[in-house]
Amino acid sequence: MASIDECVNGFPLPMSKLGGGIAERAAEDFTSPLTKDVGCHLERILRLGDKTPPPLSGSDSVVRYHGNPRMQLADAVVMVTGGTGGLGSRICHAFASQGARVAVVYHSRTDVARDLAHELAKKAGASDSLAIQSDVTRAEQVAELVDRVVQHWGRIDVLVNNAAFNQGVPFQNLDALTPELWQTIMSFNATGPFLTARAVAPLMRRQGCGRIVNIGSVSGYKPGGSSIAYAVSKAALAHLTRCLALALAPEVLVNCVAPGLMEGTVMTERMLPEQRERGRAEAVLNRTVDKDDVADQVVTLARSDSTTGQNVIIDAGRFFH
Ligand SMILES: NC(=O)c1ccc[n+]([C@@H]2O[C@H](COP(=O)([O-])OP(=O)(O)OC[C@H]3O[C@@H](n4cnc5c(N)ncnc54)[C@H](OP(=O)(O)O)[C@@H]3O)[C@@H](O)[C@H]2O)c1
Repeated sequence: MASIDECVNGFPLPMSKLGGGIAERAAEDFTSPLTKDVGCHLERILRLGDKTPPPLSGSDSVVRYHGNPRMQLADAVVMVTGGTGGLGSRICHAFASQGARVAVVYHSRTDVARDLAHELAKKAGASDSLAIQSDVTRAEQVAELVDRVVQHWGRIDVLVNNAAFNQGVPFQNLDALTPELWQTIMSFNATGPFLTARAVAPLMRRQGCGRIVNIGSVSGYKPGGSSIAYAVSKAALAHLTRCLALALAPEVLVNCVAPGLMEGTVMTERMLPEQRERGRAEAVLNRTVDKDDVADQVVTLARSDSTTGQNVIIDAGRFFH
C-alpha cells in the first residue's frame, strides 16, 4: 500500500484502512448529500444520466448547457497534483478562493503540504482541505489517492495534473540524455497524467460531470526547455489532452494550460542557466510568466462548460499559433 499521509485543515487525521473501489461506490450513491448540488451543478431541467438533449429553444441556460451539467466551483472537490510546487500552490489558492475544497497532492515535502492545506482552509469562503502524499507515476498509489479523496468528500469534480519532473540537459548532448533519464521524465510528465485521468474517469463519468486540466509547457509546441525529453513529454501531454477530451466526452471536459518560463520554482532552478536565459529572451513581453495568471487560466478552464480538448499557451509571447 502506498504511504498516504493526510491532514484536514493542516492537522493530521488518524489513518483509516483503505478499502478498494470506494470511488466507484460513492459515484453510484447519487442520493448522498455530498454528491448533490456541488461541483457539477445540475440545471433543473436536466437529470443525471438523462442523455436526451433538451430542446434548443427556451431559456438561455437551456441553450447554453445543452445536455451537460454545468460546473460550479463553490464547494467543488479539486485534486491538484504537485500542489506543493511553485505553480501548484498558486493553483490550490486560486481554487480555494472560489470556495472549492482542495486536495493538495505532494511527493516529499510533508510540512509544506500541511502548511498549505492549513492556509487554504483558512481562506475566506473555503471549507476544507487535505494534504495527501502520492507518487503519481505509480498506478497503485494513484488508485489509493483517488479512493482517499472520495472517502473524505464523496466525489472529485476537478483534477489538475500539475506534478512534473525535469533536468537540464543541453539539446545537442544526446549522450547525456540517457535512456533512464528519458524514461523518468516521460513517466512523470506523460504517464503520470494518464494514470490519474484513468483513475478519476469512471467516477467523473458516473457523477455525470468532471473537469481535467493538464499543465503542459510551451516547450511542447516550440522545441526548447530543459531537455529534449521534457519537450517531447509535454508534446505528448498536449495530445493526451485532445485524446482524453474525445474519450471522456460528454461528461468530462479535458484541457491543458501550457506556461512559458516562470520564476521561483524548483523545476526552473533545475534548468541550465542558458536555458533560463533563452526562456526570458524569447518572450516578446520581455519577462517571465506570472504564476497567478496561469493559475487563473486553470480555474477558468475548470469552470468552462463548453471548452474541451484545447491547449492554452501562456508564455509572455514566445510561440504564436
Ligand atoms: N517552472 C517553469 O518555468 C515551467 C514552465 C512551463 C511549464 N511548467 C510546468 O508547470 C508545472 C509545475 O511546475 P513547477 O515549476 O511549479 O514545479 P515545482 O515547483 O518543481 O513543483 C513540482 C511539484 O511536483 C511534485 N512531485 C514531484 N514528483 C512527484 C511525484 N512522483 N508524484 C507526485 N508529485 C510529485 C512535487 O512534490 P514535493 O514538493 O512534495 O516534492 C512538487 O509539488 C509542471 O507541470 C511543469 O512542467 C513549469
